[in-house]
Amino acid sequence: MKTEYLTVDPEDFPLSVFTDAAERIRAGELVAFPTETVYGLGASGCNGAAVKKIYAAKGRPSNNPLILHFPDIEQIDSFAVTDRRFQLLAEAFLPGPLTVVLPSRGICAPEVTAGLPTVAVRVPVHPVARAFLRACGVPVAAPSANLSGKPSPTTAEHVRKDMDGRIPLVIDGGPCSVGLESTIVKLGDDGAVLLRPGGVTLEMLRSVLGDVRVADAVLSPPAPGAVPESPGMLLKHYAPDAPLYLVRSSDSRRVTDFLCEKAEDPKNSVLLYDGEHIPAENVYFLGARGDEGELAHRLFDLLRAADRPEAERIYAPMPDRAGIGLALQNRMLRAAAFRIKDL
Ligand code: TXA
Ligand code: MG
Repeated sequence: MKTEYLTVDPEDFPLSVFTDAAERIRAGELVAFPTETVYGLGASGCNGAAVKKIYAAKGRPSNNPLILHFPDIEQIDSFAVTDRRFQLLAEAFLPGPLTVVLPSRGICAPEVTAGLPTVAVRVPVHPVARAFLRACGVPVAAPSANLSGKPSPTTAEHVRKDMDGRIPLVIDGGPCSVGLESTIVKLGDDGAVLLRPGGVTLEMLRSVLGDVRVADAVLSPPAPGAVPESPGMLLKHYAPDAPLYLVRSSDSRRVTDFLCEKAEDPKNSVLLYDGEHIPAENVYFLGARGDEGELAHRLFDLLRAADRPEAERIYAPMPDRAGIGLALQNRMLRAAAFRIKDL
């Protein structure tokens, strides 16, 4: 299959630019599109055969459900049972990088929810995503547009590397601003649970909902035989080919010294904060220490870049946990398959 690329300037585009892409969605084809978090691989959420193509193109296990994307909050009620807590979250954070798991009304294709009684819903804020979704006229089921187990794509070039020849169309709207997948919160009878941390932080969720429990799987490997609260919380995820090691110490200088020493071996790739390195081809800059938002924006790109064919190991510092740092820890722990080096 030949993949077409449609380049759209997110700040200036005519709505008609999405006529063909939306037609393809309604006809049951796959279209990759940008959001503020990561690129999504979309199919009509009302067409089971189209949704099955997503699982095939990604090599994704069919028991891992997908997020349903809407252009506006108002359409969600037809597909999910919303409540007061959802309204509060929507007022505070939507449209934006937040996904909410709610009881499903069973209207979308069963392939979207992988047979669960709940459905994950999201309204992205990216102007290209919203205009494209509006043109589609149906909710669009979309996981991240990477091969299953690979880091999520934050540019159309990442999508091309994983998906070229596997899907008919990629909408290129430039790099994603958040760079990490959306926060996922489940609103259940037993309270609100953070299933995946992201751009809307735990602190932000608690400021609106009060108590929010953090699912065990956010920072711990799944216990053998345990049923994860979100099926996507597999042990290995977002993984580069070369093994990643996270380096941790209460003394950040020891971490830097250790990483600088590792950088002397060209077979290692090393991720360092700016100002802590001697520039070298195997050293990748994380941005300024303390600017976790910037690091979130660059993390997946850095992991892909550091995963050079010659690299035998990748070393990175463990980020702090506050704010979006929780999301960074969650993604990096999974990318590292929970390999931690304590100094
Ligand atoms: O930022 C994002 O959320 C991106 C963009 C494209 O919107 N999408 C994304 O989708 O990251 P995906 O499929 O890579 O991750 C969705 C996660 C999976 O871990 C899945 O298990 C979980 O959401 N999920 C989906 N439906 C669920 C449900 N009903 N209950 C619990 N977890 C659910
Ligand atoms: Mg994904």
